[in-house]
Amino acid sequence: MRSRALIGTAALAGSAVIGYAAVVERNWFALRRYDVPVLPPGATPLRMLHISDAHLTPGRHRLMSWIRSLAALDPDVVVNTGDSISHPQAVQPFLEALGPLLDRPGAFVYGSNDLYSPVLKNPTRYLWRTSALEHRRGAPDLPWADLGAGLEAAGWVNANNRRGRIKAGNLDIEVAGVHDSHIDLDHYEEIAGPADPAADLRLGVLHSPEPAIMDSFVADGYDLLLAGHTHGGQVCLPGIGTLVTNCGIDRPRARGLHRHPAELTMAGRADGADGSERQAWLHVSAGLGTSPYAPFRLCCRPEATLLTLVPRIR
Ligand SMILES: [Fe+2]
Repeated sequence: MRSRALIGTAALAGSAVIGYAAVVERNWFALRRYDVPVLPPGATPLRMLHISDAHLTPGRHRLMSWIRSLAALDPDVVVNTGDSISHPQAVQPFLEALGPLLDRPGAFVYGSNDLYSPVLKNPTRYLWRTSALEHRRGAPDLPWADLGAGLEAAGWVNANNRRGRIKAGNLDIEVAGVHDSHIDLDHYEEIAGPADPAADLRLGVLHSPEPAIMDSFVADGYDLLLAGHTHGGQVCLPGIGTLVTNCGIDRPRARGLHRHPAELTMAGRADGADGSERQAWLHVSAGLGTSPYAPFRLCCRPEATLLTLVPRIR
């Protein structure tokens, strides 16, 4: 009798946690803010909005209206690190959710979920492997090109294996990015080479924060790297934090503002061509959404981030 009661209590508690993760926290959007000392001395601070991993489906009205509300932050520039859509009819709703943000300068890369529609899978598989092999299903079936065309029509830089230039505020930003390494579409060799030392900021953009690619950006002189993909682990535990990153980055850097390499004294650090040590700032977004087939977040609220770029500390 007593064990029956215990099982019943555990089942009730489990249902409550699942309900909270699926209904409450998944829609409990957070705006993170960080100051990043990455600009030249004397430069005017720049407000950079970083969004990622919306995984939008047309029915997610709360998510769309929250994205739309971000325009009130008055960012100088917007960067989207991919996995924007998860449905064939999600491009137009995503562009409409961005709304006035499309009037700002911007840059974007794709994530694998912009190309391939989600499929039902065991959500616990990330505990023992990444999803790198799951999207190799032949031709992409989502309208990634329409998504890119919509963003480019607004003037945003398509940074998928490309370099470009953004004028934001009073600053000249060199931007370079790679397509998603998770599905082997990254071609760093197409953007390789020293970043322009005359630019006010050298920005690297990638969906999945793979250390080897970030090493290349740092070696080429990029100052700030933005990535998404990890969802911050999506399901975290109090006192433990992120359980899985679904890529090569370490768990402590699965979300938030960090450095890359994490430590200059670590083996494998990136050295500048002049022999000096280099270390970039790295922001990994925990993302705005989830796969429609894993519709929950626990101790890892969906988020967007306002990075205020300020002059370097000398
Ligand atoms: Fe994602």
